[in-house]
Amino acid sequence: MPLQIIRNDITKMKVDAIVNAANNSLLGGGGVDGAIHRAAGKELLAECRTLGGCDTGKAKITRGYGLDAKYVIHTVGPIYEDGKQGEHELLESCYRESLALAKEYKCESVAFPLISAGVYGYPKAQAFRVAVDTVTEFLLENDMLVYIVLFGKEAFMVSEKLFADITEYIDDRYVERHTDKKLEKIRKCAVLGSVAKRANIESAICEASSAPEDLSSRLSQIDESFSQMLLRKIDERGITDSECYKRANIDRKLFSKIRKDVNYKPSKPTVIAFAIALKLTLAETEEMLKKAGFALSHSNKFDIIIEYFISKGIFDIFEINEVLFAFDQSLLGA
Ligand code: APR
Repeated sequence: MPLQIIRNDITKMKVDAIVNAANNSLLGGGGVDGAIHRAAGKELLAECRTLGGCDTGKAKITRGYGLDAKYVIHTVGPIYEDGKQGEHELLESCYRESLALAKEYKCESVAFPLISAGVYGYPKAQAFRVAVDTVTEFLLENDMLVYIVLFGKEAFMVSEKLFADITEYIDDRYVERHTDKKLEKIRKCAVLGSVAKRANIESAICEASSAPEDLSSRLSQIDESFSQMLLRKIDERGITDSECYKRANIDRKLFSKIRKDVNYKPSKPTVIAFAIALKLTLAETEEMLKKAGFALSHSNKFDIIIEYFISKGIFDIFEINEVLFAFDQSLLGA
């Protein structure tokens, strides 16, 4: 998953570079700036003194010293006034300039805090959206693992309306699993039934194997696999492989494994990430899941949230991940 949104203290991140939300002097401060300088040690300040400051929207790089990260990329976000002083463009520039530096220094992984979303007063939801959109745009053309690190109790900034909508959708569908005795018994019979059924299937297969032509003709009717359906849908949508896996927020290596192995068994979030990237209908999504051995279930909030977005025709994987994160569910593309 090239873009991961996680909750952590950025100074603890084991990545090639962490980004610091600094000020123009680059001589340290409070917030994440203070935390990074404390964790890196005095040598970081000594190197910062040699940089001659940094303009807003720009970025400069130093070593990481006492941090696990090899580098610290210092960028200066805009102080938010009213949103009409070019704050959006300057904030975008912080992410672009930092990513360009990370690429220049051959970083394979980089972690960002929410720049300007603290002391500099940028509204968190908007700051988060700028971060996700700018990083996503970069990842469409570049291979890098990028973390957006939310701190402490910072949650996802899901709009109130969307959050209420989905909560209602879940309540209407979420099937609480009741484990009373009666159901327990029914389930046990079901299991026994399936054991018996399996025994019948096994005896059917060993009968069938006595007539090889029957078995081989049955095997020749094996359905299209998940991997075959995925590649077929990519062709039908007229998009390239990389457009598909980038939209699905799936890394290139995983995609090439799926392409090479016609019987590859993906995880359920991976199947759904591709269904979103290909903008499949609910029926097509369920078909693709079935080919990978899964189904959408109403006893699983993750599935209900996915069903909500697909049935509404909303295929923005990061908007969906924001909601999944807000409901403490695993993220797509994982
Ligand atoms: N790890 C990850 N994120 C953190 C951490 C941490 N250890 N500490 C704070 N944050 C988050 C904040 O919650 C906020 O969402 O980083 C985001 C940016 O907040 P600030 O650090 O206040 O940075 P910013 O809003 O860009 O203001 C920069 O503050 O610290 C001074 O010297 C700095 O003058 C500059 C100004």
